[in-house]
Amino acid sequence: MSLDNAEIEKIKSEAISAISAAKSLDDLREVKISHVGDRSPIARANQGLGQLPVEERASMGKVIGTARANINQAFDDREKVLTAERDSTVLIEERVDVTLPTNRNPRGALHPLTILSNEISDLFVGMGYTVQEGPEMESSWLNFDALNIPADHPARTMQDTFFIEPLSSGLVMRTHTSPVQIRTMLENEPPIYVICPGRTYRADELDATHTPVFNQVEGLVVDKGITMAHLKGTLDHFAAKMFGPGVTTRIRPSFFPFTEPSAEVDFFYNGRWIEWGGCGMVNRKVLEACGIDTDVYTGFAFGMGLERTLMVKHGINDMHDIVEGDVRFSRQFGTGAR
Ligand code: DAH
Repeated sequence: MSLDNAEIEKIKSEAISAISAAKSLDDLREVKISHVGDRSPIARANQGLGQLPVEERASMGKVIGTARANINQAFDDREKVLTAERDSTVLIEERVDVTLPTNRNPRGALHPLTILSNEISDLFVGMGYTVQEGPEMESSWLNFDALNIPADHPARTMQDTFFIEPLSSGLVMRTHTSPVQIRTMLENEPPIYVICPGRTYRADELDATHTPVFNQVEGLVVDKGITMAHLKGTLDHFAAKMFGPGVTTRIRPSFFPFTEPSAEVDFFYNGRWIEWGGCGMVNRKVLEACGIDTDVYTGFAFGMGLERTLMVKHGINDMHDIVEGDVRFSRQFGTGAR
């Protein structure tokens, strides 16, 4: 390569026009390799200095150094411009509109009945009870006979039963959670303290206050010296925890085949008594059917509907809202996540 001023001027102007022609940072990277980097003409010119006669080196070195500085300056300037351009397009292209609705990933919600059932279980577990569950398709012996409801008893027709075909299967959709009492007593020795929430079935039409598939919660205690006072105290505590401090219950004489004496339980809420469920002292016949020594043990039981409890607690006045399973309804109760 001949090194003279004209040559250096040419190298410089080619480099500078290539730099200014670069339209993007990517282009500029290419330009850097061919016109600015270690193998560029200007770098090679610089390396060629060594071959010049000593007396020419200083002046030529200066010319090359100046040209190189001009090229580097042009490069830096162009890089700044292109970087600024890149940044502003990125700002536009990757703009986030914070006013747009978020890309929601809707989480499910526990059904309010599930939340309520969990709350009740927690409450009783806190008092030393255990939670017992039983099958929804139940033997009619456990659903009726063992509970002292014989075949010809009017209580059987009072509870409009879904029977499982063939009838000889002896199976029904349980009409109440009371058969879980029997299962518990058959499988465990007293002392027994259980709470049994679950789904129950009766051949009712769905309307504002009825549903053929509903939920009950059953309580059962069998221990030495259990009296109706324990039952009443438990119900009062339960009512206060469900509906607010100071809410109390009253019991009214009633009849259930599986309790003796039997009572209806009401609670006082917003200035009126509201029916809640049934209760009583476990009938000796029931204890005996489960092999429990009635000279040693007595027990109480209660059972109430969860739908009604939920409706009163939250001012819901149409059963359809509870049954239809619209998540917009359920979400008002929170997700139930704990
Ligand atoms: N099993 C009854 C029903 O479904 C409710 C009930 C009444 C449950 C009295 C009980 C009780 O445990 O002692 O109508």
